[in-house]
Amino acid sequence: MKILVTGGAGYIGSHTCLALLDAGYEVAVVDNLSNSKEESLKRVQGLTGKTLEFHKVDLLDKRSLNAVFEKSSIDAVIHFAGLKAVGESVSIPLRYYHNNVTGTLNLCDVMGDHDVRTMVFSSSATVYGDPQTVPIKEDSPLSPANPYGRSKLMIEEILQDLHRSEAGWNIALLRYFNPVGAHSSGLIGEDPNGVPNNLLPFITQVAVGKLSELSIFGNDYPTPDGTGIRDYIHVVDLALGHIKALRILASNPGIVVYNLGAGRGYSVLEMVSGFEKTTGQKIHSKIVARRPGDIASCYADVSRAQRELGWSSERGIDEICADAWRWQSKNPDGYE
Ligand code: NAD
Ligand code: UD1
Repeated sequence: MKILVTGGAGYIGSHTCLALLDAGYEVAVVDNLSNSKEESLKRVQGLTGKTLEFHKVDLLDKRSLNAVFEKSSIDAVIHFAGLKAVGESVSIPLRYYHNNVTGTLNLCDVMGDHDVRTMVFSSSATVYGDPQTVPIKEDSPLSPANPYGRSKLMIEEILQDLHRSEAGWNIALLRYFNPVGAHSSGLIGEDPNGVPNNLLPFITQVAVGKLSELSIFGNDYPTPDGTGIRDYIHVVDLALGHIKALRILASNPGIVVYNLGAGRGYSVLEMVSGFEKTTGQKIHSKIVARRPGDIASCYADVSRAQRELGWSSERGIDEICADAWRWQSKNPDGYE
């Protein structure tokens, strides 16, 4: 069975390509390398001892995308390709809507033309916005607070409509919480452009000496220690969730929505002390004002994924910190 992975050279995509190859799938990747390097895929092939097809193609270039489907016999698609920086999406919203939404429309068109109607889509916990209650269930209210999040919700709705309109579409909408960590080899991991926005890559760059100190965005939230609480999910566990999703779509056709998280929250201070304890690295930090748009607490109710997918996270915070640090210390400049 051959899986087309859009955005497969990126952070979650590369870990998923590795999991797919390990599980015996054939893999073709489409990526425009706008936020990734082909080196990640070379390393995936080195780690698995298997080869994959790589097509440097932009989803906005429908003709080239069509050519990939003409050439390769694709059975299903895992769709990661998209822009994901929240702040950037506020300043250049049209680019975000065009890339994420138009890219997905092109992909669905080309899939339909080639009779490929199985898709696993990367959605995000950001579609819930500021949750009224935690843990968050899949049927909680949806109210994304920025163009990035709205592009994800629009795509979810487009895929729901597509499924309603035409028989045969099998779609899994996976809402990731906070993907972190790296493959245990330290050979693939997250390689953010410029200064990281997210907590764990920031911590690892402080530890490796690229950044001087962590700014903790607020300690006056209504949480036990005052800092923000999130649901950190190891990227290898997340990757395995995609394989479970492919399997459920094969055995139970339809459209499904799952939260993929660890199902428990850690505060910023707990993450910093967990990282220090696991790695022995001291993280200098200071408390600063809240980051605009941040919420106090966000973690998943993962019971549906456990029950229906037979999936749950296995790697805890110690493994997350150790793996993130192994990747960062072995590759201080990422894939460069
Ligand atoms: P990433 O940036 O590392 O990977 C995305 C990949 O898509 C990159 O390799 C990029 O080059 C490619 N891409 C972007 N636009 C494209 C286009 N038009 N055509 C072809 N390729 C294109 O990001 P990631 O962290 O691996 O995230 C993967 C997906 O998961 C994204 O859709 C993201 O929105 C979603 N997601 C990520 C997180 C997270 O925290 N990392 C959380 C929730 C959801
Ligand atoms: C961010 C995105 C969200 C996305 C998620 C997972 C924003 C506003 N939201 O959210 O849409 O789905 O990543 O990729 O960017 N923190 C610090 N100092 C830092 C960085 C973060 O204190 O330098 C804190 C934050 O305030 C938060 C926690 O660490 O409490 C986690 O932050 P981050 O990793 O950016 O994830 P999210 O805030 O969940």
